[in-house]
Amino acid sequence: MSHRGKSALITGGASGLGKHLATTLHAQGAILLIADIDDDRGTAFVDSLNKERPGSAFFKKADVTVWEEQVDLFKVAVKSLKRIDYVVANAGILESRFLAHTSPSAVEYVKPDLTTLNINLIGVIYTSHIAAQTFRTQEIVQGFRGQIVVTASVASFTAIPNMPLYSTSKHALVGFVRAFGAQLEPEGITVNAVAPNITRSNLTVQEIFDAVEAKGRLTPNEAVTAAFTSFLGNRTLNGQIKEVSMDKTYQRPLPEPLNKAVVDNIAELAEVHRVAYLPPKA
Ligand SMILES: NC(=O)c1ccc[n+]([C@@H]2O[C@H](COP(=O)([O-])OP(=O)(O)OC[C@H]3O[C@@H](n4cnc5c(N)ncnc54)[C@H](O)[C@@H]3O)[C@@H](O)[C@H]2O)c1
Repeated sequence: MSHRGKSALITGGASGLGKHLATTLHAQGAILLIADIDDDRGTAFVDSLNKERPGSAFFKKADVTVWEEQVDLFKVAVKSLKRIDYVVANAGILESRFLAHTSPSAVEYVKPDLTTLNINLIGVIYTSHIAAQTFRTQEIVQGFRGQIVVTASVASFTAIPNMPLYSTSKHALVGFVRAFGAQLEPEGITVNAVAPNITRSNLTVQEIFDAVEAKGRLTPNEAVTAAFTSFLGNRTLNGQIKEVSMDKTYQRPLPEPLNKAVVDNIAELAEVHRVAYLPPKA
């Protein structure tokens, strides 16, 4: 598919899954704004893209956990890209230490390090929130004001022992994407997610990826990128999560409700809140 004339902002785009997606979109004609906390990697990547096609890629250093930095990021994006078609909220890390090893004689409680939640969840919420506000200022083109895709994980559907914060952050993104996608649907904005199994990147030490690959269980970057791009330009999918493991991609349905009371009560709550949060009139 061609993305000629389209533009994308990708957080965590200097490495791994975000970089692979960015490289693919760029090869298909898109212009890009790469956002990352890693200045060196981001600048080097964008330089290489601009050697291929001058003026086709921009880099902005931003920490997704800092609201003001994300606001600045989107201001730069609007200036550089003019219109933003796709926003990929992808920046993430593995587990920050939740339960520290305290000695039996410890007298003080140790506060948890919540960095993982701040990056993987709050950061994604900030990105999606500013993206939605930006899209609201844009005209509908080919059915969309704009599209958001979030990077979830297989940990969105299964808890990884020893990774309570990572599992929490990725589980939470499922609820966020389903609810926010449904909320923004009438405005021509989509919010979907990709939930990959282990895929080579710089998320952890390369020995893990080598070991998983040797056992034939590594998910190719190409499969993850294909899941990301399957949402782009697709008006039929909103609030959906595609799980990707090796050569298989599976669109995870909502779990079965316990009974009709769940469905009816949710519909009632949603209607009250739809009226309370109607989108602003142009
Ligand atoms: N690689 C996997 O096996 C795998 C599987 C499932 C989900 N994921 C998810 O994919 C996403 C991308 O990770 P990856 O595997 O490509 O790892 P990666 O480390 O290669 O890339 C993550 C990028 O995010 C950036 N980043 C980290 N903290 C940031 C912050 N506060 N602000 C801005 N940028 C920040 C890093 O500098 C890095 O460039 C993450 O959300 C991760 O949870 C990865």
